[in-house]
Amino acid sequence: MPEKINAGIITISDRASQGVYVDQGGPAVRKAVEGYGWQSLGEQIVPDEKRAIQKCVRELIAGGCQLVLTTGGTGVAPKDVTPEALREIADRELPGFGETMRMESMKITPNAILSRSLAVAVDQCLVIALPGKPSGAVECLGFVHQAIPHCVKVLQGVPTSC
Ligand code: MTE
Repeated sequence: MPEKINAGIITISDRASQGVYVDQGGPAVRKAVEGYGWQSLGEQIVPDEKRAIQKCVRELIAGGCQLVLTTGGTGVAPKDVTPEALREIADRELPGFGETMRMESMKITPNAILSRSLAVAVDQCLVIALPGKPSGAVECLGFVHQAIPHCVKVLQGVPTSC
């Protein structure tokens, strides 16, 4: 297990992937990742398509990421398929992450109830789906970041005291 957590970041957005607008979510999440003392191994942008999302997650894991953070596609629009994509490749779901992100975000905006944000374990990697709004993604990561190092260690099979 390296000193720093290796994180992969995926922006999930049809329009950002087509270049309709410049992605702001990925860079915002990367800044937060670096602020926690972790390192970004790569930022990707994919459309709201289950297969593209799953492929990208698997590639980042194969590239050495112990943590993958996605932003976008957690809402209730017909195109939003991030939770479905991740559940299909998940070994297990970790419900506490989604519960905490929604509970804390509700103190900021009532629209937080619309986010189906979640976390899953894929192989030995922790994958967390954050909402698409850059500030919302950073806020949600902030609500759960303290649990991430321990979770990553446990998933990687590193002996811990608890
Ligand atoms: N959570 C936080 N903390 N801050 C936010 O601004 N935006 C909400 C919600 N969660 C938000 C948030 C909104 S407006 C939506 S529609 C949902 O996340 C889903 O966003 P997504 O479909 O872009 O992932």
